[in-house]
Amino acid sequence: MGGSALTVNWTVREILKWTRGYFKGAGIVQPRLEAEILLAHVLGVDRLHLYLSPDTPLTPDERARFREVIKKRRSGVPLQYLTGEVQFYGLRFRVRDDVFIPRPETEELLEKALDLAPRDRELNCLDLGTGSGVIAVSLAKYLPRVKVTAVDLSTNAVQLAQENAELNEVVDRVAVVRSNWFERVAGRFDLIVSNPPYIPEEEMEGLPAEVREHEPHRALDGGERGLEEITKLVRELKDHMQAGATALFEIGDGQGKMVEEEMRDAGLTDIRVEQDFAEKERYVIARCP
Ligand SMILES: C[S@@+](CC[C@H](N)C(=O)[O-])C[C@H]1O[C@@H](n2cnc3c(N)ncnc32)[C@H](O)[C@@H]1O
Repeated sequence: MGGSALTVNWTVREILKWTRGYFKGAGIVQPRLEAEILLAHVLGVDRLHLYLSPDTPLTPDERARFREVIKKRRSGVPLQYLTGEVQFYGLRFRVRDDVFIPRPETEELLEKALDLAPRDRELNCLDLGTGSGVIAVSLAKYLPRVKVTAVDLSTNAVQLAQENAELNEVVDRVAVVRSNWFERVAGRFDLIVSNPPYIPEEEMEGLPAEVREHEPHRALDGGERGLEEITKLVRELKDHMQAGATALFEIGDGQGKMVEEEMRDAGLTDIRVEQDFAEKERYVIARCP
């Protein structure tokens, strides 16, 4: 959309072609897909619509709005912050600046939680570090007999998780609480799930700029060896679990052995470390005796 602007008829097809090149030049890994997602977002249609109407010209206003969005994307703003939403385990969630963007690994964490949750009774669940609320809201959505407490220290996260509970119509079974981990959490739970910050502080600088410069550090930085927050949680876990309850944590690759030991020291049993779809150590599951 630069110098050739006077000669090109900016139809959907042409603008996608141009943007693909613009994104490719910036090293964006899926340039065509992202161009489509952002154009569909700006036009307020779904992606299929772009394929059905490739010759539709964009209005000057649509072009101006699209130009703004793609400039931001090229400068490194994550796609999800620009569209303001993500799909997680088949559900729609709002996301925005200053709250962690959910990752596919966490969909696998949720799947494990759903597999482990008994279906024959009411369950009291806890999601520690809920962020946008994806785990808490999905648990409530897919398990009609659970009540979930979702905690986060970030006010923005708490606000967003609440909105996402409303969006997915589970607000009556998800209580969102601003708390420093267990500080303001009462009672014992049948299922505790957490995707805590676990990036070792020495690796924070090496994260892609898109992550490092745009996502909240508090959501990522796990301190020394990435284990500081997990250690705090594990120490208190048993005091918040019912007998027979399950705890499920997402962890960083290579942290399995250490978290396993900490869980054993904390009095948990049946501890196992599992890998994600990329065959990296990613989950620790334990039971309260
Ligand atoms: C990796 S993010 C996970 C967010 C969400 N559960 C997900 O999987 O997309 C970790 C979350 O823990 C929260 N957090 C960090 N320290 C915390 C603390 N001391 N107490 C409560 N939440 C905390 C962060 O604000 C962030 O939302």
